Amino acid sequence: MPKTLPEMMTSLRITAGGDVEIIDQLLLPHTVKWDKVETPEQAFDAIKMMKIRGAPAIASLAALSVRSHLSSSAAPSFASTTSVQEHVAPILDYLQSSRPTAVNLGEAMDRIRGVLSASASSPAELVEKVKDTCFAVHAEDMERNREMGRLGAEWLWKKRGDGKKGLKVITVCNTGSLATSGYGTAIGVITALYEADHLDTAYYAQTTPYHQGSRLTSLELTTLRVPACMICDTMLGSLMQHQDIDGVIVGADRIVKNGDTANKIGTYQAAVLAARHKVPFVVVAPVTTVDLSLATGAEIHIEQRPPVEATLVRGKNLETGELSVVRITPEGVGADDNEWNQVYNPSFDVTPAELISAVVTEKGVAERAEGATSIDVASVC
Ligand code: MRU
Repeated sequence: MPKTLPEMMTSLRITAGGDVEIIDQLLLPHTVKWDKVETPEQAFDAIKMMKIRGAPAIASLAALSVRSHLSSSAAPSFASTTSVQEHVAPILDYLQSSRPTAVNLGEAMDRIRGVLSASASSPAELVEKVKDTCFAVHAEDMERNREMGRLGAEWLWKKRGDGKKGLKVITVCNTGSLATSGYGTAIGVITALYEADHLDTAYYAQTTPYHQGSRLTSLELTTLRVPACMICDTMLGSLMQHQDIDGVIVGADRIVKNGDTANKIGTYQAAVLAARHKVPFVVVAPVTTVDLSLATGAEIHIEQRPPVEATLVRGKNLETGELSVVRITPEGVGADDNEWNQVYNPSFDVTPAELISAVVTEKGVAERAEGATSIDVASVC
C-alpha cells in the first residue's frame, strides 16, 4: 500500500509578513527555535556557524537574504543600474565566502551575478529581477527534489527490487528537508521508496563529529515515520557483512566533470565498503551541485572545520533537561598551543567516480559503465 507522509520539517520558511526564518539546527533535535534572518551578515553568520547547513539550504538562505536586503530600508535608493551592480556584487562575494565546498552556494551567487549584468531599463527593474532570481533559487529546490526522489527510487528498485518486499539502504549525513528547501536529495530517494512501499529499513550513520545523522536525519525519519535504524560510523562494514544491503544513497556538495564527488566526511569509506560488498552506491544531487569547471575531485577545495567541533558535543542533560556542551577529550586536545595532540577535521571527503554506481539529478540517472572509472555527469545536467 502506498504511504502518505506526515508534514516534513523544513530548514527555512518565509512568513506571511515576508520575513525569512530558519530553524537553528545547532539546537536540534531537542529544541525547535526559529530565528529571523534579516540581513546578508546574519545569513553569513548562520551559514558559517552551521545554524543552517546542507548544500541546497545554504544557497537558498544566502539568496533570500539578498532579496530581504533589497526589500528593506537598509538598501540605498539606486540612481542607476550600475549603482545596483556595485552595491550587490560585493554582497554576493561575501556570502559566497561563508562555506567553500558546496558549489550550490557559488552557483546561486553566479546566477544572481548573471542577472545583475543583464540589461534592465531602470534600477528599479534590475532590483526586481534580482529579487525574483533570489526567490527562484529557493522555490525551485522543492520540485526538483521530488523528481530526483522518484528517479532514484525507480532506478534502485529496478536494480535490486526483484523478489523483495522492500529494500535495505544506508545513508550518511543529513540530506532531507533540513538540508534543502524540502523533501531532500538522498533522503528524498529513501522517502520515495517508502511512499511506494518499497522500503524495508533506512540505516543512517551518526556522522561524527557534527552528528548530522544522529541529530538531524534521526529527527527527519522519525517525523516521517520511515522505518529506520541508526548506526555508528564505525559499523558500516559490519552492517554490510551481516545484512543484505541494497544500496548506499548519499547527497553531494560538489560533483565534478568525471563524476568524483565531495560529500560529508565518511562518505568515501561508505563507498569503499559498498564496492567491497557489491552494493550499489548512488549519489543524488540537483544539477546545481554539478561543477563541470573542475575535471577531477583533486581540484575540490575541502573545508577544514575548527577542532572544537570534534572535541565537544552538545546534548541534553538528562537530569535538568537543559542543553549543554560537554568536552569528550582531555583538556587541551586540538588547542592552538598544543602541537603534539592536534585534531584533523575536514568537513568533507571526495569519493572517486570509480566507486560510484550512478549519479541521480532531476534530469536523469547517469550510470557508470561496468569497469569505467568516470561517469558522464554532463549527460544529466
Ligand atoms: O557540513 P554540512 O552539514 O553542510 O554537509 C552536508 C552534506 O554533506 C550533505 O550530504 C550535502 O550537502 C547534500 S545535502 C542535500
